[in-house]
Amino acid sequence: MHSEMKLMIIIISVLAAVALIQGCYSAANRHSKSPTSSVVFPVTGNVYPRGYYHATVNIGNPPKPYFLDIDTGSDLTWLQCDVPCVKCLPAPHKPYKPNKDLVACMDPLCASVHWPDNYDCKSSQDQCDYEVQYADHGSSLGLLVKDWFPLQYINGSVAKPRLAFGCGYNQEVLASMDPPYTDGILGLGVGKASILQQLHELGVTKNVVGHCLSAQGDGYLFFGDELVPSAGVVWTPMSTTDIEKHYSLGTAELYVGGKKSGIKGLPIVFDSGSTYTYLNAEAYKALLSMLMKDLKGKHIDIATDDESLPVCWKGSKPFKSIQDVKNLFKPIMLSFANSKNARLQFDPEAYLIISKHGNVCLGILNGSEVGLESVNLIGDISMLDKIILYDNENQRIGWAPANCNKLPSVGDRDPDYGGLCRTYGSSMGIFQSHCAAY
Ligand SMILES: *[C@@H]1O[C@H](CO)[C@@H](O)[C@H](O)[C@H]1NC(C)=O
Ligand SMILES: *[C@@H]1O[C@H](CO)[C@@H](O)[C@H](O)[C@H]1NC(C)=O
Repeated sequence: MHSEMKLMIIIISVLAAVALIQGCYSAANRHSKSPTSSVVFPVTGNVYPRGYYHATVNIGNPPKPYFLDIDTGSDLTWLQCDVPCVKCLPAPHKPYKPNKDLVACMDPLCASVHWPDNYDCKSSQDQCDYEVQYADHGSSLGLLVKDWFPLQYINGSVAKPRLAFGCGYNQEVLASMDPPYTDGILGLGVGKASILQQLHELGVTKNVVGHCLSAQGDGYLFFGDELVPSAGVVWTPMSTTDIEKHYSLGTAELYVGGKKSGIKGLPIVFDSGSTYTYLNAEAYKALLSMLMKDLKGKHIDIATDDESLPVCWKGSKPFKSIQDVKNLFKPIMLSFANSKNARLQFDPEAYLIISKHGNVCLGILNGSEVGLESVNLIGDISMLDKIILYDNENQRIGWAPANCNKLPSVGDRDPDYGGLCRTYGSSMGIFQSHCAAY
């Protein structure tokens, strides 16, 4: 693997086996009234050259902002933490200083973070240690703590839940890799420890998370179902057969340029923590050979000297944008077995980047090379300019084309709270926020 490629992978979190212990009780029954309002976070980042998208989350009392990589592929949220730090990576903010509020190892959250492994818990006084490993071989080690996460609903009201998260005092990345410039990870997976699941248990938001990442960079993230478009969403049932729980859509068949690739039964997982899309070795090989065949006789050659990604092509003159190569590359499509009408199409923008050398590079990588085995990940590059909805209330995943730069438009922001007060346009979910528009 080229070193710069690893740099781009940042987090392929699907292998972080931080899945849930099946719930001891059902949270849904505990709330007489289900929250109707949602919380929105602005998101910053891009696929290339940055390689990740982060949300700004305020934590503590008084609250301080932290940049957290948004990751629907893992459960545990963690921040670099000063207990003191054994090994903290360069980060935009000072490491978080925990209060004395530790999660005990008897807590079900601790068990969920350790699932499926056994862990030592001798006395109820003991702290809950954790270690998460990501598929890119990055890791974080620390202990679980609790603190306030002040959030502002779109309707203007404020919630101040206390949530558990990791205080990471020992972080590793591969020596060859540039660490992402964030303070930690925002775990939005399906496990009990996930921030989304905790907010749901506490009755703060509905068990729905959505993101809209713009190809031009930035976007937004939300908890709750208030911003779910009322029409135009393609819904697919979540697969429940996975032992390791992820946002999985079951299996799909691969098409390239409308032609069958002959590859079926690909297990598909949605993972916003992965910058690029990964196919297993067999599908990757088929895809590569079909793309290469289509490029025969066109004035484009493999660029062996471009290490931006494993496969790059150069033209007779440097490419400026994907527009320059749109006629050379055909759409790729996944057709899901679970749901007759569910097809996810990747236009060239959803699987190619233009490198800083002016070459076009394939943003679909060989998952077998990074140890993903048969699992196939849909990463950020293939989710751009779409609203992606992970609806745990109804066990389904949806997507719809969207302008991720436009909505929600930024209104007044109270710096003490994670959410934004916004005034919304009329094209999508019409409402006026309670905050003053300007
Ligand atoms: C805003 O929404 C929250 C969550 O649904 C609710 O608890 C609160 O009462 C609402 N506030 C207003 C002003 O409507
Ligand atoms: C994908 O990775 C696997 C495992 O490293 C390797 O055997 C295979 O040759 C790779 N496929 C391609 C097309 O590079």
